[in-house]
Amino acid sequence: MVQTHEKTATSPVNIAVIKYWGKRDTELILPSNSSISITFSKEHLQSKTTIRASPLFEKTRLWLNGIEEINVINNKRLQNCFRETKLLRKEYEDKLSKEIGIDNVIPLSTYHLHICSVNNFPTAAGLASSASGFACLVYTLSQLYELPVSATELSKIARQGSGSACRSLFGGFVSWQMGSKQDGSDSQALQIASSDHWPELEVLICIISDAKKGTSSTEGMQSTVKTSTLLQHRINNVVPERMKLMTNSILRKDFNKFAELTMKDSNQFHACCLDTFPPIFYLNDTSRAIISVITEYNDKSGEYKAAYTFDAGPNAVIYALKRNIPEIINLISKYFPPNQDNQTFFSDPSKLFSDKKKLG
Ligand code: ADP
Ligand code: DP6
Ligand code: CO
Repeated sequence: MVQTHEKTATSPVNIAVIKYWGKRDTELILPSNSSISITFSKEHLQSKTTIRASPLFEKTRLWLNGIEEINVINNKRLQNCFRETKLLRKEYEDKLSKEIGIDNVIPLSTYHLHICSVNNFPTAAGLASSASGFACLVYTLSQLYELPVSATELSKIARQGSGSACRSLFGGFVSWQMGSKQDGSDSQALQIASSDHWPELEVLICIISDAKKGTSSTEGMQSTVKTSTLLQHRINNVVPERMKLMTNSILRKDFNKFAELTMKDSNQFHACCLDTFPPIFYLNDTSRAIISVITEYNDKSGEYKAAYTFDAGPNAVIYALKRNIPEIINLISKYFPPNQDNQTFFSDPSKLFSDKKKLG
């Protein structure tokens, strides 16, 4: 009887506070600047992926949210992840063959795969589905193949699926070091601090629209790289200093500085989108109204009590200290009651991802 091998795992999303936007190498997915993010709890936003390997499968197939991806063979990003994990599996099989004999090793690296992945939140809507999705693909493959490799090594593979995915291999506060080598071997994620480092910090996710964005992150950032002079200023003169300041604010748990940097970096990322020609608009009127409400709230408080950030989409992510979360939920719900103007608006408090439990 032919045995089918199967593994299931889940992965969290991460939302950047220093944004990645721009590649210096589009094939290897090497970024133009380093970035920092926070990995969320899997309670609310997660990708769940099941992978089967069998000698009976005639080709590799993938279903995303129940719909089959027709062009797996031409999808370079998926192929990058398969190639890199299969290479590691083959090395492992060769090593095992020497130790226990070739007949006792299952040649999983030669089998086609059937992959089923589901996101429990909107896909391609600016809530980092490519991050949790590709992190989950690579992590589940590593489990299926029983790869003896570190999260940092896996981050370099996930990066070749979607850049932001490399940071979802870790919980807590994570940086993606852009690296300087041409082969990308030093472009990897590292944990700055674990999820229990700053238990008072919480995140509020406001889903304004679950519609698929008009311009994918990949296309958007390439267009920005080609046409925006502001992006060059950001890469050369802004992000390097901000990386240091943001790391310090996290390590010192200095919310005021953390909030200021987070909001400024989100603003500059969206300014780069506007400086792209033709311009790209990810924020909508509701997003901008949230920015105004948070700004007014912070002004009245005399300190930063809430920090907004927006990825490549209209949905707001608000970081705040636990004690201020009820006040912020009240404020947001007062100005933006659910389903106002047919918008599917709701807010959803969620704790940070705990990396005490391993992924999977
Ligand atoms: P987002 O803001 O959601 O990250 P992107 O434009 O960066 O949007 O990427 C969306 C793409 O990521 C999807 O069209 C799909 O190709 C890929 N993706 C999303 N979720 C998954 C998943 N669970 N498994 C594999 N690929 C995924
Ligand atoms: C705005 O990682 O989705 O979310 O590498 O082309 O797949 P690709 O892009 P992606 O870009 C994320 C951009 C961002 C900021 C961030 O996550 O740092
Ligand atoms: Co993405």
